[in-house]
Amino acid sequence: MTRRQLLLHTPYLAALSGCVHTQAQPDAAAPATSTTNPNHSSGEPLMSFPPAFAGNHTLQPLPFNPASLPGLSERLITSHHENNYGGAVRNLNRVEQELAQVTRDTPPLVVAALRERELTFRNSKSLHEGYFGNLGGNGKMSQTVERALTETYGSLARWEEHFRLTAMGLGGGSGWAILGFELDTGALRTVSSGHHKENLAGSVPLLVLDMYEHSYHLDFGAAAAKYVDAFWNNINWEEVTRRLESAQAARKVLQLAREVR
Ligand SMILES: [Fe+2]
Repeated sequence: MTRRQLLLHTPYLAALSGCVHTQAQPDAAAPATSTTNPNHSSGEPLMSFPPAFAGNHTLQPLPFNPASLPGLSERLITSHHENNYGGAVRNLNRVEQELAQVTRDTPPLVVAALRERELTFRNSKSLHEGYFGNLGGNGKMSQTVERALTETYGSLARWEEHFRLTAMGLGGGSGWAILGFELDTGALRTVSSGHHKENLAGSVPLLVLDMYEHSYHLDFGAAAAKYVDAFWNNINWEEVTRRLESAQAARKVLQLAREVR
């Protein structure tokens, strides 16, 4: 069997057996439409596609007890989850429902405004899910992530310095500090995203830190550095490790797929 035949007749993830030690939790908010086809052949889709404007996204529950995070109050976490994340999800649904009504007679400026709001709320939804998903841990980094960051930055302390300063650069304003995995290069990138729309194209968020004031003002006022310290103590590095391993596996699949074209 040729390499191309192997890939076309075998589920990609099965071909990568052993690449991923642990799997990330499935996205409960995403439509459960993705399936691998063990009888896949050329021309048949491996996955089905969710509709463009379903308008039925739902909130993912917190993956931890909101009263259990040292240094971050239950009131802060619950309000953030229900009002800010929840607001993004509800608004995304409204925007999708509006986009579904667009016709050839809709003024382009109306579509432009809807598209701007769509991207804002879609990214807000995804980044909030990444943020809450990487909270609830004990703050102890895995050896896998430590090795990766040390190799990338020369030392773990150097990366932490960069990430914390990236976050503080957004203090008093709005945006996200993100450690991302660049699918094209396999590199780890520290990114500052102003608002919700300045993410690094083609990257997978691994560690997500919300620096909007709503994420800390109730507990810390304007003391953003204290919030970053509290966040640091509650990072779920096991989840970050799962994301890294899943992203590396996805990159491997992309590379294999390119090779057989
Ligand atoms: Fe937020």
